[in-house]
Amino acid sequence: MTSKRITRQDFIRLVGVGGGALFLSSCLPEDLQGKVLSAGSKIAPAPQSYGAPDVEIALKAVEGETQILPGKATGVWQYLAEVLTGPAESLKAVPGSYLGPIFNLEKGQTVRVHFTNELREESIVHWHGLHVPVEADGHPRLAIQPGETYIYNFSVLDRAGTYWYHPHPHGRTGPQAYYGLAGLFLVKDEEESAVGLPAGDYDLPIVIQDRRFDGDNQLIYGGRGMMDQMMGFLGNRVLVNGLADYRLPVATRPYRLRLLNGSNSRIYKLAWEDGTPLTVIATDGGLLEKPLQKDYVTLAPAQRVELWVDFSERPLGEELRLVNLPSAAPDGGVVFPIMTVVVEREESATVHLPGQLSRHNLRDETDAVNQRTPREFSLAMGRGMGWTINGRTFEMTAAARDEIVKLGDLEVWQFSNQAGSGRGMMGGGMGLPHPMHVHGLQYQIIERRVSSAGRSAWDTLSDGFVDEGWHDTVLVMPGEQVKVLLKFEDFSGLYLYHCHNLEHEDMGMMRNYLVES
Ligand code: C2O
Ligand code: CU
Ligand code: CU
Repeated sequence: MTSKRITRQDFIRLVGVGGGALFLSSCLPEDLQGKVLSAGSKIAPAPQSYGAPDVEIALKAVEGETQILPGKATGVWQYLAEVLTGPAESLKAVPGSYLGPIFNLEKGQTVRVHFTNELREESIVHWHGLHVPVEADGHPRLAIQPGETYIYNFSVLDRAGTYWYHPHPHGRTGPQAYYGLAGLFLVKDEEESAVGLPAGDYDLPIVIQDRRFDGDNQLIYGGRGMMDQMMGFLGNRVLVNGLADYRLPVATRPYRLRLLNGSNSRIYKLAWEDGTPLTVIATDGGLLEKPLQKDYVTLAPAQRVELWVDFSERPLGEELRLVNLPSAAPDGGVVFPIMTVVVEREESATVHLPGQLSRHNLRDETDAVNQRTPREFSLAMGRGMGWTINGRTFEMTAAARDEIVKLGDLEVWQFSNQAGSGRGMMGGGMGLPHPMHVHGLQYQIIERRVSSAGRSAWDTLSDGFVDEGWHDTVLVMPGEQVKVLLKFEDFSGLYLYHCHNLEHEDMGMMRNYLVES
């Protein structure tokens, strides 16, 4: 796989245009398809071969400000978007928030996104959890410079579910996401509509992020230097949907809440303060087969869970808090509130929690589990500073021999968190959890094993793991080995897998895997 960064000059030479709108001819090498630089603010059309998409969106990353705390506005970076063609509902703003607008798409739709980078540094957008071709995956080698535009073309192939988008430039994903660049990407399909879940005003996003502010209401990132890099950024204030002290007014009826842990590194142990169990209906890759009851849910960075919450038995005026319970997660020792639900209006509804949410949505795993040796990924502290995967750190275009897979293959991958066995810093201690993410697909979690040394920390979070259903990110605790089952379908090329603790990722705890046809 070759990677070629093209500069503005290269591009202009390549297509022979000196200004105004640029036309990308369809005879460009495959590697350059999808990449278009704009001259000034003109947006260039995508390669002809893609035809007219069902939905076309202009998306940009800009610097701005927003009111988060009382007093001075906070400087943020944000995604702004507008629908160029297709249904207006394809985008939905999150009022008062720095979060990007919610993409609302249907399975089967073809999409074109024109992403313009109006930041003062390079960036690129990644569609987290979506099964898209490599050119549309937002790999750091495709990052564009300030003023440039990148055109994404893809079809929505995924099941209905809660996906999201965020930046992915090498070494700068952590700060860019932290300053506000993130948004949800929701997919609907027929199977899900047939279930009859709460919809519209009763289907709500809950994006959880931790932040740290200075006395002037400005965001602080990286204030603890090396500590932040090794541990990952940990804030002292929880925001929900970009707002502080989040209050959610509800009616006396059932709701669908879509939770995303959009934090850089914080792991949450979520529970209702009054002990009411949580009813989980979906994970990263959409609906579970059946609803699941949990006393608490463990949500690692990048993970999503969807909850069915019925407020119909609650008295008017009642306030119910979603809280973080103490656990062995880094800086997770105390109870703190996430948000407060306020039962505000009386309303009756006829929706009921279905016993069955989806059918036959998991692969038959028996063959792969019994007959295949897992591909091993060892997670450890490197000899210098920094976290490694199989002893390596990120290289922009390299995939090692043991990182090459075959298109169409079903494989078992095993992530082994080697805490306690390394020799570097923290090697003797218990190390840190790593939420491991694989680009371009959804996988199944098929087995967990934990060492006796890791057991007591593991016990503080493990009842909250939702391992059922489809996932793109799995938490691997210190001393733990987790096996996942994945299949490489439809697209070949270079994809990423990495720790989704964004500071770990930025420091190089990320590698490519190459799907060969
Ligand atoms: Cu959510 Cu490679 O990222
Ligand atoms: Cu991803
Ligand atoms: Cu990590």
